[in-house]
Amino acid sequence: MKITSARVLLSVHLLLAAASLNLSAASAASPRERLLLDANWKFHLGNDWGIAQNLAKAGSGSGPAGVWFSDASWRTVNLPHDWAMELPFDKTADGAHGFKALGHGFPSNSVAWYRRAFELPKEDSGKRLWLEFDGAFRDCEIFVNGWFIARHESGYGSFRCDITDVADCGGKNVVAVKVNATEFEGWFYEGAGIYRHVWLVKTAPLAIAPDGVFITSDVHGKNAEVTIETQVRNESNRKMNCVIQSVILNADGQSVAGTEGTSITCQPRFDEVIRHKRSLKNAKLWSPESPNLYKLVTTVENGGQIVDRKETEFGIRTVRFDKDRGFLLNGKPYLLKGTCNHQDHAGVGAALPDALQYFRIAKLKELGLNAYRTSHNPPTPELLEACDHLGMLVMDENRLLGSDPLHLQWLEEFVRRDRNHPSVAIWSLANEEFSAGGTPAGKRVGETMQDLVKRLDPTRPVIYNAAVGNEFAGVNEIIEVRGWSYHIGTNNMDAYHAAHPNQPNVGSEQGSTVSTRGIYTNDAARGYMSAYDDNARPWSNTAEEWWSFFDPRPWLSGGFIWTGFDYRGEPSPYGWPCINSHFGILDMCGFRKDNSWYYEAWWTDQPLLHLLPHWNWPGREGQELDVRALSNCEEVELFLNGRSLGRQTMKKDSELKWKVKYAPGTLSAKGYKNGRLVAETKVETTGAPATVQLTPDRSAINADGEDVSVFTVAVTDAQGRVVPVTANLIHFELSGPGKILGVGNGDPSCHEPDVYLPVWPSHSVAANDGWRWEKTTQPWNASLPEFAASFDDSAWTPADVQSATNQLGDNEHGVFRTHLKVTEQELAANVVELCFGALNGNGKIYVNGLKAGETHDSGMVSAVDVKHLLHPGDNPVAVLVENYSSSGGITKGMTLRMQDQPVLPEWKRSVFNGLAQIIVQSTREPGAIKLTAAAEGLTPATASVQSQPCAPRPAVP
Ligand code: GAL
Repeated sequence: MKITSARVLLSVHLLLAAASLNLSAASAASPRERLLLDANWKFHLGNDWGIAQNLAKAGSGSGPAGVWFSDASWRTVNLPHDWAMELPFDKTADGAHGFKALGHGFPSNSVAWYRRAFELPKEDSGKRLWLEFDGAFRDCEIFVNGWFIARHESGYGSFRCDITDVADCGGKNVVAVKVNATEFEGWFYEGAGIYRHVWLVKTAPLAIAPDGVFITSDVHGKNAEVTIETQVRNESNRKMNCVIQSVILNADGQSVAGTEGTSITCQPRFDEVIRHKRSLKNAKLWSPESPNLYKLVTTVENGGQIVDRKETEFGIRTVRFDKDRGFLLNGKPYLLKGTCNHQDHAGVGAALPDALQYFRIAKLKELGLNAYRTSHNPPTPELLEACDHLGMLVMDENRLLGSDPLHLQWLEEFVRRDRNHPSVAIWSLANEEFSAGGTPAGKRVGETMQDLVKRLDPTRPVIYNAAVGNEFAGVNEIIEVRGWSYHIGTNNMDAYHAAHPNQPNVGSEQGSTVSTRGIYTNDAARGYMSAYDDNARPWSNTAEEWWSFFDPRPWLSGGFIWTGFDYRGEPSPYGWPCINSHFGILDMCGFRKDNSWYYEAWWTDQPLLHLLPHWNWPGREGQELDVRALSNCEEVELFLNGRSLGRQTMKKDSELKWKVKYAPGTLSAKGYKNGRLVAETKVETTGAPATVQLTPDRSAINADGEDVSVFTVAVTDAQGRVVPVTANLIHFELSGPGKILGVGNGDPSCHEPDVYLPVWPSHSVAANDGWRWEKTTQPWNASLPEFAASFDDSAWTPADVQSATNQLGDNEHGVFRTHLKVTEQELAANVVELCFGALNGNGKIYVNGLKAGETHDSGMVSAVDVKHLLHPGDNPVAVLVENYSSSGGITKGMTLRMQDQPVLPEWKRSVFNGLAQIIVQSTREPGAIKLTAAAEGLTPATASVQSQPCAPRPAVP
């Protein structure tokens, strides 16, 4: 139901009729439910059914969109799911998308179907029912119970569909989603499929509107004034009175601000917006260092009943840019130490379990980073939750410029969805619009977008990542904060700042150094780049170049490194065999590359000292190697096997270099500040690979079917030192209540699979004998005697169901019967289906007198699930063919298809320069998950993770 308008009641403390509710409203139950709809989807790669949406008649989706369609033999998957990860690499595929066999050259890999059946209880009748998609790549068509419900093209926005009118409360419902990933949106790996969560949301007809709560705060000294905007929606067709109450709870769950309610009258099919203000004494401010959160509990009461209750987490903090002092957090200059990131990770592609979002944000925080740019698209909401909880500022980026109605709608949905997250500090309108960003049209479009963002959220600054130097024309003319994509230098940044002194600035994208973990020579054949800070792309700069330019210029506000993590696709500078980027300061798995120490050294205060390269160079004895120290110490002294190679003074924002003649042993260094030894480090020549080591990042996880433990796999020498130059193939085995989600190793040119799939063998038996048929004039009669198991068809005409000629003429209908002989062994199969090569007309299939299903895919292959209706021996089958065209019948025969139990895959992965990663997910069973890693000639490793009993999130059964 589309509500067309809303009215804002400026009822700040001016309550129409002040109603005082007691605190129990904050904990009262309400009809609102938000159920995870991730588990047990059926998945099929390919679209074998032509056009599923019937434009002629409502509710008549065909193929998988139809209610009766059998998906019994489809694979079962849990969301989030990225099928691009399951595809092979192909040299002819799009390199920018990681050479996965996807896109225009690969039509059969680029469209897929997902189906999920679920029951709704009778009591849901009268509620509003929604499906919420956090995001899917890309172009989705959604059907519920055969009805076409929605289309959503963008691969990044969240979207919701109201399914109230077509839902069957008290019965079975089927949601079918066709996902078409043929067209890409970006120039980087984007995944394919429903790669984020799906939710089923239920509310009363009078409820808080979707994304209808907006919390802002002003900070005055130690206190804060919190403004709460609540949009209430009346989906009923009668006027309704209600009382809206907003209660703020602190981290201990205690109410910390006023609780008076506001009474309003909601017109039928109309939205009302009210505002509450709350004063909070001694407010605990949110920052990356202290991510203090509050919870707002909003209740809507009607006729003495709580009809809605919603919790919204928020934080109290202020953000703004100052033209001279740069970014200010809670009123103080705050250097943005940021990374830009795409959303994929090793092993799982774009489909990250929530725990992996936390893992990644925690990895960035370990380096002292405090900001994250969601380049170049709206992220999944769970990433923002991780940033709220762990403490990471977010530059939340819209996909691209556009002020047409659809792009403005997406922009509005994006801002409304994300504007309560305290982590979200900056809106970014778009990234590097090369064609449009500098034009008068770009300026107008940017202005329309910025105005909309400001209307929806006046509290956050807006930027645009401009890929130009000292140029003002276009979006830069109107944008609140000038975002700098590369283009460092006095002629660019200083000149621009001098010419536009009132516009604040931020280094929204900098760096783009290319390096491969543990590699110290560029190698075009293997697609590797050395990890010294020497390799920037022509448009970009080394870490030292850009940071030493930014450091003395606080008005630039700090910057966002391109990138935090490596990502699939955009291999640069080499193409195949390289299949992912090298821009990260961490690799695809989150293992550190040397440049990460450069930033940590200059962006944190703790004394830090790091040496590169590794010290395993057999055959290079006596040759000079390039040794570097990354450090924030004032002086560093280098030693080889205890002999000093000299002490050097560090220049701010720089690194130190030595030429060292290689001899195996220990390369060590001492770092000094004020003449005092403050840091020491060493790299050692290791022995040969001897042992596999397995280390989980968390040794206890939740038995909720969602949580994960990320294991580091290391190959070490006999002394337990990681061998930095080895590539052993590791075989994994898992036992206990868990499953392997994926494997990776950070090698940008590795073509080993990240996921291994089970195989479902199947076989078919032809069932074309013994058919007889007879016309019927009552095709609509659901209890024709001809359907009965005991019906005697011996006098009917024999039918050739493999004949090229249809049996039925113009608008004729008929029943076809045969006797299916089934063995016990056949019935033991996982799935047993009846398949028709071509059933021309609408088919209704009965087995042993009971209805097995329908098919509305005239002329196409179709199947019905019959295992539950068959028994060993003789099984009469009756097929009614309704034919409303010139001819109809059964022409390409029938088969009985048996799908056997799945053959489970073996998991393996080579380590890359000594390291690999394996991601293990819990099931809902508690217990010990045991993982074993073995490699030829090495001592194997076993590690366990305890999957602990917990209350899983409410989910659709
Ligand atoms: C930028 C762009 C990024 C990435 C990067 C590589 O221009 O915004 O998406 O392509 O270059 O250096």
